[in-house]
Amino acid sequence: MSHHKNKRVLVGVTGGIAAYKSPELVRRLKDRGCDVRVVMSRAAEAFITPLTMQAVSGHPVYQHLLDAEAESGMGHIELARWAELVVIAPATANFIAKLAHGQADDLLSTLALATEAEVAVAPAMNQQMWQHPGTATNLEQLVQRGIRVIGPGSGDQACGEVGPGRMTEPEEIAAILAGDAIEPLLSDCRVLITAGPTWEAIDPVRGVTNHSSGKMGYALAQAASDYSARVTLVSGPVHLDTPEGVSRIDVISAADMLEVVMREVGKSDIFIAVAAVADYRPADVAKHKIKKSDDQDGMVIEMVKNPDILATVAALEKPPFTVGFAAETQNTIENAREKLKKKRVNVVAANNVGGDDSAFGSDSNAVTLVHSEGEVNIPPNDKYAVAIRMLQEINTLYRYQ
Ligand code: C5P
Repeated sequence: MSHHKNKRVLVGVTGGIAAYKSPELVRRLKDRGCDVRVVMSRAAEAFITPLTMQAVSGHPVYQHLLDAEAESGMGHIELARWAELVVIAPATANFIAKLAHGQADDLLSTLALATEAEVAVAPAMNQQMWQHPGTATNLEQLVQRGIRVIGPGSGDQACGEVGPGRMTEPEEIAAILAGDAIEPLLSDCRVLITAGPTWEAIDPVRGVTNHSSGKMGYALAQAASDYSARVTLVSGPVHLDTPEGVSRIDVISAADMLEVVMREVGKSDIFIAVAAVADYRPADVAKHKIKKSDDQDGMVIEMVKNPDILATVAALEKPPFTVGFAAETQNTIENAREKLKKKRVNVVAANNVGGDDSAFGSDSNAVTLVHSEGEVNIPPNDKYAVAIRMLQEINTLYRYQ
């Protein structure tokens, strides 16, 4: 995503009450050195005057598709080419539907089709309209086409209702577009994450564990918190600092981890199981350190199966959106797809832990998100960057699938 400072920006205003915030957006974009032109839909004029938009942008406002005078100046195709960014704020449910279907029945929708520039929309509408499956399907189309959706936020609405659908504040939209701020993509979400290895005690000083560093889970916790989610991290024994803004609960064994997860899961919208949980634990934990015996050349430790935390959560009556990992050394994608079905989870993030490019302990990773409708490849990058990309995809699947 480009950072839009000192750019030529076309601001589209459609007909919603949030149009009263559009002049402020123009000013905030200008603060960031942008040259701004405004296009208004006919319905927008019921909420705000073209003269206001002209005053703040410093240029005449473009209003109609077949306006001979306007076309003799900068015609609609020229305007579409001029723009380096098109941002529609507010974007009504109707405009989003038009954009999703490629309809071009007025100047703004025509420009949105004719431009090669990046397009962003800041939806604003009544909460029922936002939650309607029709809107969700249209939004999904836009996201898949690479159109950036900023917000909406939740709260009191002009219609007197409370819920999602408030246009993101102009300063925040401008900051996001300029790359000054990370989008509050998950501000209405509570995310529960497990991370690190587990330690299955054999006696008070020994145990069975693995090489998981916890870095991927911690990166996801940090990224989710940066996306404004409320994050709880249930962590096995690791040597990592708690990510900023995250509440961390330390556990040792798989049984402890399950107990904490089951306590916290009812308060979660998204559950991401990253922990490398030991599949088996010693059947009995010796009370005292097991002594070496001179007349015994070997020893047998009986192991019993640990609970599968991810599958337990996914099997709940009302599970959160569940994401698991598949750390494989071969047939990564096939095994991930199998895991998706077997554990009945929404997404499996497949990564390769064998060979030289092993994800275990390393600072970088590459994953493929496998879900019921397809796959998304996230190319190799540092674990935080991979976490950011993963959460963008998880957010889309969580909201629109
Ligand atoms: O079956 P497998 O261990 O390969 O599955 C990996 C996924 O399941 C990971 O997301 C891991 O965190 C989760 N898991 C779990 N509890 C277990 C074993 C795995 O939550 N006992």
